[in-house]
Amino acid sequence: DAGDDAELRTPIVAVLGHVDHGKTSLLDEIRGSAVTAGEAGAITQHIGATAVPLSTISEIAGSLVDPTDFDLPGLLFIDTPGHHSFSTLRSRGGALADIAILVVDVNDGFQPQTHEAIDILKRTQTPFIVAANKIDTVPGWNPNPDTPVQETLEKQSDRAESRLNEQLYEIIGQLSDEGFSADMYWRVQNFRENIGVVPVSAETGEGIPDLLTVLMGLSQRYLKAEMSIDVDGPGVGTVLEVKDERGFGTTLDTVLYDGTIRADDTIVVGGKNEPIVTDVRALLQPRPLSEIRTEKQFEQVDAVRAAAGVKIAAPDLDDAMAGAPVRVVRDRNLEEVVAEVRAELADIEVVTEEQGVVVKADTLGSLEAIAGTLEEAEIPIVRAEVGDIAPRDIAVASTAEDPKHAAVLAFNVDVLEDAEREIEETDVDLFADDVIYQLVEEYEAHVEAIEE
Ligand code: GTP
Ligand code: MG
Repeated sequence: DAGDDAELRTPIVAVLGHVDHGKTSLLDEIRGSAVTAGEAGAITQHIGATAVPLSTISEIAGSLVDPTDFDLPGLLFIDTPGHHSFSTLRSRGGALADIAILVVDVNDGFQPQTHEAIDILKRTQTPFIVAANKIDTVPGWNPNPDTPVQETLEKQSDRAESRLNEQLYEIIGQLSDEGFSADMYWRVQNFRENIGVVPVSAETGEGIPDLLTVLMGLSQRYLKAEMSIDVDGPGVGTVLEVKDERGFGTTLDTVLYDGTIRADDTIVVGGKNEPIVTDVRALLQPRPLSEIRTEKQFEQVDAVRAAAGVKIAAPDLDDAMAGAPVRVVRDRNLEEVVAEVRAELADIEVVTEEQGVVVKADTLGSLEAIAGTLEEAEIPIVRAEVGDIAPRDIAVASTAEDPKHAAVLAFNVDVLEDAEREIEETDVDLFADDVIYQLVEEYEAHVEAIEE
């Protein structure tokens, strides 16, 4: 967990980027390096998150980091699986992540989900750095495992180095097209105004010391004020996923970003209709150094402190939504906590019109992001909900007065069988994509075709 002296909360670092660009490999490499550095036990696996304490970071970063410069307890990394929108990572008033690493494959450069991630980083004003990954794949590369980047660059042939530079400047150019001024991280003075690009390899560990050093520096410098919390106060978190777990029923994979949650707490969770009030049955964490997505063995814990990932088992969670808030009641007034959860949900509520399209998404965060994009494109919404496409959605879309509104826009959700039949029997068009701007573009192309 965050450590006993944690007056300052562990900053939450989201790792995002296009499919296969190496997000999970980067975290694996950090975990693996920790093992090599004899710090394996210090790394804790959470639900969808990995906590790396300061001592481990300074082991890995070696001479680049002076631990006495830092009083943050470490970093909590959240992996965002491919095809799953980073926009789930929301919290009261913005992004759940304090900072982000945008992973870009040096061979591929920017790809659709890279652009999508940038859109969300912009919208939530999340500071980020770019990890230009897979530098070991540059032809003629001479690998120097686990070394800082400038050290390994000195040991490359002129040819390999200039080839890498070409690829890095390509990425810097793409960042500039997105409106960011960017440069190699060692030339960046102010990481809020300029995006630092850190060349890395998740395969060889080259550049990983630099990546961790830059992240610590960035957190320390710009986030400290926001990191001071009452770590023992009633916990506040965000639901990442609602999942069935054998022996526990419906559970919530949650990232706690404030306070503490205990195994005997009453909690309030954002539900599809009303806030859900329920008692924690168990708090579960994966066993150390195991990968959560394949993890079946959980350890029950008595309490979890922010920032951390935790699976919450409790009754009555069927209507809970990914992206919804979770709040611990403890010694607070229940009605007050319920009112806070209701207010947070109202904040995310999408403005709907009399006429418009139907939108379905997998999480509150993605729903919010799509609504934002539709609003910018001046496309009205008649109904917006989290969940799979049901007959009722098709029924609503089929009553549209304007044929261009007889449409359902779906992001990362399934079509229920009955709904499929209804789609066939009506004039409703279904648009589905796992990249938000592509979803909206497909719909716009359809509208153009109708209008011609
Ligand atoms: P999704 O979770 O599906 O979005 O992918 P991801 O971004 O987590 O990518 P992942 O870490 O699964 O890596 C994808 C592939 O790239 C795997 O085959 C990795 O072994 C490979 N890979 C990742 N990083 C590197 C690297 O630095 N060098 C080389 N050579 N291969 C890498
Ligand atoms: Mg992955």
